Amino acid sequence: MQIFEHVASLQKFLDSCRKDSQKITLVPTMGGLHDGHARLIDRAKELSDVVVVSIYVNPTQFSANEDFETYPKTLAQDKAFIKSKRIDALFIPLNSEIYPEGMSSDYDVGKLGQILCGISRPSHFNGVAQVVNRLLDIVKPNYSVFGQKDYQQLLIIKSLVKSKDLDIIVESVPTIREDDGLAMSTRNKYLSEDERVNASLFYRQLVKAKKAIEAGVAIELTRQQALSSLSDLFEVEYVEVLDANNLTQIKTNTEEIIIISAIRLGETRLIDNILFRSSNV
Ligand code: PAF
Repeated sequence: MQIFEHVASLQKFLDSCRKDSQKITLVPTMGGLHDGHARLIDRAKELSDVVVVSIYVNPTQFSANEDFETYPKTLAQDKAFIKSKRIDALFIPLNSEIYPEGMSSDYDVGKLGQILCGISRPSHFNGVAQVVNRLLDIVKPNYSVFGQKDYQQLLIIKSLVKSKDLDIIVESVPTIREDDGLAMSTRNKYLSEDERVNASLFYRQLVKAKKAIEAGVAIELTRQQALSSLSDLFEVEYVEVLDANNLTQIKTNTEEIIIISAIRLGETRLIDNILFRSSNV
């Protein structure tokens, strides 16, 4: 595995791969790697000859009151983890490599960035799109892989790639869970022992809602029941039942449903979702 800190040396390496007709996949991460990331890397290896993993905690997707400073930075463990996955290139750039002209930008991902997580994190998805666009521009991969846990992010990145007409396939990988159902996330490290035990109830409530819909309970009633049960346990930011294709209200032709939610458990904000096919189709 080669480690690159500079755009120029990474691009030189990737140009030589392309000359040999090798296909490239980028897996962008912010480090704090866990088995969810391992699954993204495994998928990347299935897709292409060369896998680049980036580790960069992007300041522009955090607002002033968020956890940028405390976001888990575990570079030594991450390097060992990545080495064990036998990938080709690890890219760990400094801010000056990602934002040589400064961090300010007028990125606006539009409506999709203002709903759900975008309500409490109004500039978050603009920052995500800004950095992903930059990483894609540096690496120019054939594929890039993202997790379905960050479902809103995934749709925003797909829409970015489409709107810029980039010749890149965005692949997604299902959420990887702990044995008790909690979705793997770098931020799970923030949970206290008690909070960690309670956190598993988050996914359980989403499963209950999915079963209710599959049993024919009306969408809005299910949403309200889920909101009420989740509110007994957590501070709920939102819980919605939507068309997974575009995060709008469910219609008669909705093919895939998403139950999507964000909650707070003490100081920790958790997101999760369940995707399933609509019985109407
Ligand atoms: O999902 C993440 O880890 C980040 O939002 C991403 C896509 C690496 C951009 O910083």
